[in-house]
Amino acid sequence: MFHKERMIALKNFYLTTPIYYPSDNLHIGHTYTTVAADTIKRYKKLQGYDVFFTTGSDEHGQKIQEKAAQAGMSPQAYVDKIVADIKVLWNMLEIDYDSFIRSTDPKHEKAIADIFKKLYDKGEIYKDQYEGAYCTPCESFWSDSQLVDGNKCPDCGRETHLAKEEAYFFRLSKYRDKLLKLYEDNPEFIQPESRKNEMINNFLKDGLDDLSVSRSSFDWGIKVPFDEKHVVYVWIDALSCYLTALGYGTEDETNFNKFWPADVHLVGKEIVRFHTIIWPAILMALDLPLPKKVFGHGWILFEDDKMSKSKGNVIYPEPIIELYGIDAFKYFLMREFSFGQDGSFSREKFLQRLNSDLANDLGNLVSRTVSMVEKYNGGILPSPKAVEELDQTLITQATETAGKVEELMDKLNFSNALEEIWKLIRRTNKYVDETMPWILARDGNTERLDTVLYNLSESLRIVSILIQPFMVRTSDEIRKQLGVEGAVNWEDAKTWGFLKEGTKLQKGGIIFPRLDIKVELERLNTANNKLIEKRTGARKETKSEEKKPEAPVEVEPVEEITIDDFAKVQLKVAKVIACEDHPKADKLLVLTLKVGEEIRTVVSGIKQWYKAEDLVGKKVIVVANLKPVKLRGVESRGMIMAAEDADGNLTLLSTLEDIADGSSIS
Ligand code: MSP
Repeated sequence: MFHKERMIALKNFYLTTPIYYPSDNLHIGHTYTTVAADTIKRYKKLQGYDVFFTTGSDEHGQKIQEKAAQAGMSPQAYVDKIVADIKVLWNMLEIDYDSFIRSTDPKHEKAIADIFKKLYDKGEIYKDQYEGAYCTPCESFWSDSQLVDGNKCPDCGRETHLAKEEAYFFRLSKYRDKLLKLYEDNPEFIQPESRKNEMINNFLKDGLDDLSVSRSSFDWGIKVPFDEKHVVYVWIDALSCYLTALGYGTEDETNFNKFWPADVHLVGKEIVRFHTIIWPAILMALDLPLPKKVFGHGWILFEDDKMSKSKGNVIYPEPIIELYGIDAFKYFLMREFSFGQDGSFSREKFLQRLNSDLANDLGNLVSRTVSMVEKYNGGILPSPKAVEELDQTLITQATETAGKVEELMDKLNFSNALEEIWKLIRRTNKYVDETMPWILARDGNTERLDTVLYNLSESLRIVSILIQPFMVRTSDEIRKQLGVEGAVNWEDAKTWGFLKEGTKLQKGGIIFPRLDIKVELERLNTANNKLIEKRTGARKETKSEEKKPEAPVEVEPVEEITIDDFAKVQLKVAKVIACEDHPKADKLLVLTLKVGEEIRTVVSGIKQWYKAEDLVGKKVIVVANLKPVKLRGVESRGMIMAAEDADGNLTLLSTLEDIADGSSIS
């Protein structure tokens, strides 16, 4: 029932992102993959391909079940909320996906149950006992040779524990040679090359074990149709979404017939193994065609460290988008990082690129070009006259850039593709400096001035096409200012002379204003922290980048206060008489303080540094006259004081000698 004759369409293109775990809100790292996929989709569309782009959410599994329980919610209600946030984020970013597949979608669930049954009926899946080291967060059993540092999980580095369960197994071992042959016959299958070597050396060289593909220790998953004690292991469930998003296994398989196999699966480096070993083996077992390429991109790190909520260094995309718009954000992601490698995010780098590449280079070119046509020719595009050598250099570079960008885009080398486009932008800006239109105007050299104005506008038109896959809004705005109408077509970036004499240009506002980096750093940091507070209730989660300046910075004059100002703050010694974890927030402790005769509750974001039980009996310093606030439902009356160094180490303040609680501090 699943198979039908496939239409061979030369110009179809199918690409996917992973389906994301809705265990928490997505951060800039997840956004990276989706923005890259969106860029590819737009690029391929411009080239005339019929593109289908799948993304979605991976909603089953023990981790989600546990998270939901912690939050006092049903797993479905828990994921529904986060999935809604994910969709809002993709809408904000104008991600042009065609299918958002949720692994809890009944059609997906039914197709997965059918796939499992089919594999079982074919003898590809069998029942056995599994005993081994199990990592709960990763939901993976690991063999002794895979464990690191004794018994730690090779994926997340956390402790594993011994677990035993009856499970269904997929005969992965029998696909080892077929997989090696697949890699050999299709050298492009795993990209970048280094990841292929990793797969061969780390996983295939010494043989493959069969893979446990069901779980009976939790029930938030798709039930094995012929043995309801078991749920389908999350990887078969998740990977098959690439098929079910196309309607595979449903009554309407039109998209499946049209688009499968995928042209490229974009995945982060840590899940390349699942996509290049387990996934092709499952497809072979199902007699389905294999994807053409799996690209394992690097991670976006924060100050060279993996982003994670527990480390308090998560960067969310929303504040960046809200403050600087989607194009600046997308441009930065695609330009700053080499797609195959890890890269370090910094707000400073983002703002610097905004100023240099977007405001200085692109923004400046747009405003100079349109302003000069307005000033020297009443906003009407003149026709070019005699072509000089300098003009020819510009024309050649402008018409050859698309070809160079193509070569790089086909390798998913977004960063260098953008660099090629920016070379043209910078060349065009230089052309203005070299030809000095203001001198031509002053000297009444109209013929030459006409040519220069035309060439500038034409080069900018080509730029507007080349940047379209990356920055659709900016592309549209430039085209509006140039007075060009109609659909954008990639091939038009290879032709010179497209703009018509007499076109009316329309000067618009500045597309990327220059920013004061110091001011913006503060705004960005505050906005990110606010969002974190909203999402977690924690007092302070991200480390401020400004604390670690790369170069010496001038010391800001400190605003002085008087003794009267200081006297407004009532500081008191308090004794911690009880302390417990906040019931609804990971980062917060709830302290009961005795301040003289008074007992009060204070909520503090110090759980990362202190265990609740270790604080009981300790004396701390409290700001006693702070306005009460509610933190995740618990009222906090006051704030306890702490010192924090540039590395984010934190220690609570106390007094040198023991003194009665309630004592005043002055
Ligand atoms: N649910 C699985 C994927 C199943 S696909 C059939 C999963 N989800 S995830 O939410 O943990 O990660 C999704 C993707 O986001 C992965 O490709 C992962 O590499 C990517 N990223 C998560 N953090 C990242 C960075 N900091 N930087 C870049 N990408 C990272 O794995």
